[in-house]
Amino acid sequence: MTAPITQKGFVIHPGFLDRAAQEALVVRLREVLATAPLFIPRTRRGPMSVRMSAAGKYGWISDARGYRYDTQHPDGTPWPPIPDEVSAIWQAVSGCARAPECCLINWYGADARMGLHRDEDEADLSCPVVSVSLGDDGLFRMGNIARSGRTESIWLKSGDVVVMGGTARLAHHGVDRIRFGSSTLLPNGGRINLTLRVVT
Ligand code: SIN
Ligand code: FE2
Repeated sequence: MTAPITQKGFVIHPGFLDRAAQEALVVRLREVLATAPLFIPRTRRGPMSVRMSAAGKYGWISDARGYRYDTQHPDGTPWPPIPDEVSAIWQAVSGCARAPECCLINWYGADARMGLHRDEDEADLSCPVVSVSLGDDGLFRMGNIARSGRTESIWLKSGDVVVMGGTARLAHHGVDRIRFGSSTLLPNGGRINLTLRVVT
């Protein structure tokens, strides 16, 4: 782990998780995904390129009714609990007294990306969003509260953690592309990103 870097208010912890911690996390996430399988969210613009699931009280759903936090997976069952290893990351870096209520799981295959967006559907914006990267490198773009303006990009690597709080809490961000096969963590390649949030 090296010292955190702050870029445009985003606090990046390079190599926050060592290889053993990353591997342990993948084992726990496979258990979560066995209960709450990845699904393809749909927006008005069509299917998203990432596959998603979640753990915790709330997950994020996007379907014909629009998008929202929901206490149930699209299959109608509650989300599995957030693994302790994931909560420990939040406790170490969030600076927030509240516990995360949602751990979104995004899976990026070779051609997946995440358009520039803001995370603004949470009630308590004093709590940050904490992101954990596993597997292949992802090109993370950091912008501004307004959609326009200068952006900066950084390649997030497996084990990196980003805290989006303070002035970055409502800043635009997204993932332009991944470097498929750049990491050996996931045997079939791809990138997993976890985002931890307090929702209510
Ligand atoms: C997100 O903002 O929802 C995902 C960020 C990432 O994949 O690094
Ligand atoms: Fe986001």
